[in-house]
Amino acid sequence: MAATSTVKWTPETWRSKSIRQTPDYPDMAALEDVEARLKGFPPLVFAGEARALQDSLAKVAEGKAVLLQGGDCAESFAEFNANNIRDSFKVLLQMTVVLMYGAGLPVVKVGRMAGQFAKPRSADTETIDGVTLPAYRGDIINGIEFNAAARAPDPQRMVQCYSQSAATLNLLRAFAHGGYADLHRVHRWTLGFVERSPAGERFRELADHIAHALTFMEACGLTAALTPQIREAEVYTSHEALLLPYEQALTRIDSTTGDWYDCSAHMVWIGERTRQLDGAHVEFVRGIKNPIGLKCGPTMEPDDLIRLIDILNPANKPGRLTLIARMGSDKVEAKLPALVRRAQREGRKIAWSCDPMHGNTIKSGNGYKTRPFDRILAEVRGFMAVHRAEGTYAGGVHFEMTGQNVTECIGGAEAITEHALADRYHTHCDPRLNGSQAIELAFLIAEELKAGRVDAANGGARRTAAAS
Ligand code: PEP
Ligand code: CO
Repeated sequence: MAATSTVKWTPETWRSKSIRQTPDYPDMAALEDVEARLKGFPPLVFAGEARALQDSLAKVAEGKAVLLQGGDCAESFAEFNANNIRDSFKVLLQMTVVLMYGAGLPVVKVGRMAGQFAKPRSADTETIDGVTLPAYRGDIINGIEFNAAARAPDPQRMVQCYSQSAATLNLLRAFAHGGYADLHRVHRWTLGFVERSPAGERFRELADHIAHALTFMEACGLTAALTPQIREAEVYTSHEALLLPYEQALTRIDSTTGDWYDCSAHMVWIGERTRQLDGAHVEFVRGIKNPIGLKCGPTMEPDDLIRLIDILNPANKPGRLTLIARMGSDKVEAKLPALVRRAQREGRKIAWSCDPMHGNTIKSGNGYKTRPFDRILAEVRGFMAVHRAEGTYAGGVHFEMTGQNVTECIGGAEAITEHALADRYHTHCDPRLNGSQAIELAFLIAEELKAGRVDAANGGARRTAAAS
């Protein structure tokens, strides 16, 4: 196992490792053709941007910024349009100001967008009415329709994902820098259905405060023209580095440093199902210089974690590695402390983030895959409580949301019921928070972060999870 980190890395050394969650392409020549084409396409992101994100994530690791990483569980060809991109972006901006205002810290915004297409699955096949077909693995691999033609892995889909990612990124950049993200527009980010929700009402009050603050700052001479931070936002992209032929094809040498970067996104992460020490995904990701994430589920032991950190961040660079805990609301307080403590004891410079989605998925009585909103909030609270008790910094959150008015997660201030799931259940994979649930989550995180800072200011009071 130790050999993994000492063998010379190239973008294809992963091919000699055992690999999980990979499709069986029926036509290998067609796959190679697509890989060759993708290798000739321009990179989607520039290495310098990935380095800028790493610098920002270093601030998260040091407790000086908050990471907000979210977007679709799975992007899809069917839901690809400007309104969806704009509305997800609006919700991210709203969550950002809630956190900035509430926690008094800068927010590093990273979308699960512009490349989040490949999905790990718990079973390789799906059986309906006695017919068994390959499982749906995301639009970059096969189609969601339940028929043999759609479910056959088709490498041409990678080319379509590349184009969709390029167009999505282009629009995100335009929104971020073209005036849409100007804080003066803060009232106009609220989507119609969010406006009418309790979270929308809370947001309106906060937006009023921000508008007053901006007027005051202008009177002081701090105008948007002079302060780009007021009129622009920095938004980065990320996805799970799951489909390695695609990731390899977009991995390029950066001419300024001579380092390899995976130019399919600014940041990529290793999923819970593909984090084997000697597996292909860990091998691939260790050699790229992008900031990376690692999902940490309830079966991860402190020793595994340290071995993975040794491989993924041997130089102990802050910002390089974000650990994304996804334990489940019922396990976070039992499983997370040992990991946090061990990393802390060994002086590992890492950012911790909480994914309160993937450990809290259940089947509703009427057959929908859903997530109870109160368990999502409970996992965030548990995560924060563990960090407060350990004296470490709860750096951020990783979540699945959409700007659309979907009914996929039950609960929230609007009390979506199991029965209501059928109304607007549109996800291609896991249930997402809708706009108002996402903003409600942001308010909770802001409050928790604020409470953590008050504790720290009071001499780092060690609060136990039970007492918080
Ligand atoms: C995901 O983030 O969509 C996912 C599948 O997560 P995990 O690897 O944590 O299960
Ligand atoms: Co998911």
